[in-house]
Amino acid sequence: MGKRPKHYLQVADLSREELLALLDRALELKKMQKSKVEYMPARGKVLGMLFEKASTRTRISFEAAMYQLGGSVSFMARRDLQLERGEPLKDTARVLSRYLDCLVVRTFGQHIVEELARWSDIPVINGLTDSHHPCQILSDVMTVMEVKGKDLSGLKVAWIGDGNNMAQSWIQAASRIGFPLYLACPAGYRPDENILERAREEATFPIEVVEDPMEAVRDADVINTDVWASMGQEDEAMERKKVFAPYQVNRELLRHAKRDCIVLHCLPAHREEEITEEVLEGEHSVVWDQAENKMHIHKAVLEWALGIRD
Ligand code: CP
Ligand code: NVA
Repeated sequence: MGKRPKHYLQVADLSREELLALLDRALELKKMQKSKVEYMPARGKVLGMLFEKASTRTRISFEAAMYQLGGSVSFMARRDLQLERGEPLKDTARVLSRYLDCLVVRTFGQHIVEELARWSDIPVINGLTDSHHPCQILSDVMTVMEVKGKDLSGLKVAWIGDGNNMAQSWIQAASRIGFPLYLACPAGYRPDENILERAREEATFPIEVVEDPMEAVRDADVINTDVWASMGQEDEAMERKKVFAPYQVNRELLRHAKRDCIVLHCLPAHREEEITEEVLEGEHSVVWDQAENKMHIHKAVLEWALGIRD
């Protein structure tokens, strides 16, 4: 049997050193791109992208990253594959492994990426599941580092809203990388207790879940939010709008944070729901750099997964 491929299915799959190395490398790759350095170590490699949910940023930034590194991309919507007609994941994984060098997957259950990884001879990267969004979190942390410096240990990071896939990836990042994280979530919408407990076991800083958004943002350096109804929860959207109304990131809430706080949102944003237009487009918002950084971090992730760093 050959060497096992390097999968990245959740933040906790990587060590602190590996995560910091990816972040450092993405900052370097961004500089290289801005200086127009030609760097194409992925020549001859093919990235597969198997998506079961919509995507603007993750899809296009992975595609651009792979093309800029000199490789090619094959995009697959699930409905076009035999998977849709009942072909098992384990067969799909073994066949795709014969054609491709790496596979990015966006899907529903975490068990789907785990099953694909189990049967793949190529690296499988989670491009979002219902439980985790581990690549997104890297671009978010990278954006914080650009503004606040690389040492995050002295920062207070707040998460406002749903205890969803993004919140859970932030929890694992806080634990692995090492920074304090305060989440404000309504009762019934807290993150998974197992993920929380496991993260706390190894955390060197507090990871707290409270109900009051003001408590979470008090003196915060970084404020994050996300949609109230994630993909797959469309039926709950009306109910969620009511429950989450007190969790809007707006000017009033920001008054409780540090004056130089930054606001992140992985996008897409629903203006006047989880965030106001004023804050999204305001001086604290770093969301456009955050979106750009997805491409740079994806290059670092591809280099790592493919083992192609020059
Ligand atoms: N942030 C993010 O993952 O965006 P997309 O859904 O557009 O990929
Ligand atoms: N929590 C959101 C993130 C979108 C990038 C969702 O899963 O739809």
